[in-house]
Amino acid sequence: MSFEGRHILAISDFTKEELLRIIKVAGEVDKDREKHKDLLRGKIAATLFFEASTRTRMSFQAAMQRLGGSIIGFSDVSMTSIKKGESLPDTIKIVSGYCDVIIMRHPESGSVAEAAKDAAVPVINAGDGTNEHPTQTILDLYTIKKELGRLEGLKVGFVGDSKYGRTVHSLVRALSNFNPEFYFISHPLLKMPEEYLEGLNKKGIKYFEETDLFKVSKELDVLYVTRIQKERFESEEEYKKVKGAYRLGKSLAKHIRSDAKILHPLPRVDELDPELDELPQSIYFKQAHNGIPVRMALLGLVLGKLK
Ligand code: NCD
Repeated sequence: MSFEGRHILAISDFTKEELLRIIKVAGEVDKDREKHKDLLRGKIAATLFFEASTRTRMSFQAAMQRLGGSIIGFSDVSMTSIKKGESLPDTIKIVSGYCDVIIMRHPESGSVAEAAKDAAVPVINAGDGTNEHPTQTILDLYTIKKELGRLEGLKVGFVGDSKYGRTVHSLVRALSNFNPEFYFISHPLLKMPEEYLEGLNKKGIKYFEETDLFKVSKELDVLYVTRIQKERFESEEEYKKVKGAYRLGKSLAKHIRSDAKILHPLPRVDELDPELDELPQSIYFKQAHNGIPVRMALLGLVLGKLK
């Protein structure tokens, strides 16, 4: 099993054993960050962000720097030569000569995999449109394993945007390796796309579709909440039909088990009231902070410095 030189584009690029290996390495990094402080000394990562980001971009940057490496990149395309008409393949070919690894986010599904074809260095998908967000998923798996002690046989509910939510798409694919039961709770217009449900049918994975969260919430080991993604809708009217479909407040506490965990990739808008932050089940801030050891591990692995 080797990760050196590999792209990280989609969850399906990895076997269950490989996912478990990455999580294990992240745990080792987390235990002794000091030991890894010079691991990537002299290496450069480039963050090419064609879409807004706080956590993913900054945690990759922090992870690279915690490993002694450095960062170049952009988060405002209007300040690059793309603005002058340069193509994405040309940009990628040029940046490949400036760095050892590229971390890229783009609003178009499939664009990061397409860009990887022109790259001479490993490319990490930091979110491509509504498609996938594999590194978020690996940190989600890491968080679930750390907080619940297992990944096998969990009942996982997704509430919010199953249609456009790339974090949901990647996490469903990853958890499908671990004998799960899924509950997709959403407005009818934001249901899990058919292709994902077919994939679950083929694998014989049990799932339920529901609009009323409280009908199923007592079942859940994990409640994964997502934002309704305004920027993905074709028009403001379309968005208005589903806006505010789920606004979870303190009453949620009565409807979930005491040993359940609430995750959210963040940012939140109005779906999770800040009053929920005090609940012992709420672990979304811890989840976001786990992005550091997980992304340190991923960078070390693809650059061949961790095994
Ligand atoms: C998510 C994303 O960008 O897909 N955020 C993240 O990376 N933590 C979710 C979102 O933007 O709603």
